[in-house]
Amino acid sequence: MDVLFVCLGNICRSPMAEAVFRHWASHGHDHRSWLIDSAGTGDWHVGSQPHPGTLSVCQGRGIAISHQARRIEHSDFHRFDLILAMDRANMTALRSVRPRHATAESRLLGSYDPQGVSEVLDPYHSGDAASFQAVFEQIERCCRSLLATIPLPPR
Ligand code: 4NP
Repeated sequence: MDVLFVCLGNICRSPMAEAVFRHWASHGHDHRSWLIDSAGTGDWHVGSQPHPGTLSVCQGRGIAISHQARRIEHSDFHRFDLILAMDRANMTALRSVRPRHATAESRLLGSYDPQGVSEVLDPYHSGDAASFQAVFEQIERCCRSLLATIPLPPR
């Protein structure tokens, strides 16, 4: 299952989701051949490391994280099975760049939230640790619930 997580800047939410998904995918799934990546709809932070708030919450939970921000590109819509956007503005931006013969399915990551919170809102503007923690909790429960939809290989 090749999955691309998308937010605006690709420094706060989507690199966190990429790291959390990779972490939980290693529990029972043979995920080593999966593409798991993240990208932004904007280009302001291209080449940057994840935001210190994202690094700190991941490191505090024992989740390995390593990413350099990049912007989404046309080939992503063919390379990935699923493109998961954090909020509705990201979905609108994805629709505007989606090539005509794209094969990837795009949806909100929050559509997997067992608590029904449909959008993962950006913690960048508040910037405090509590916002990054709250976003982490939301992303983690969505990623675990998404993974539960992917069949485990026979043992
Ligand atoms: P992200 O957060 O989309 O979760 O990476 C943001 C990062 C940067 C900006 C906005 C949101 N910005 O306006 O630069």
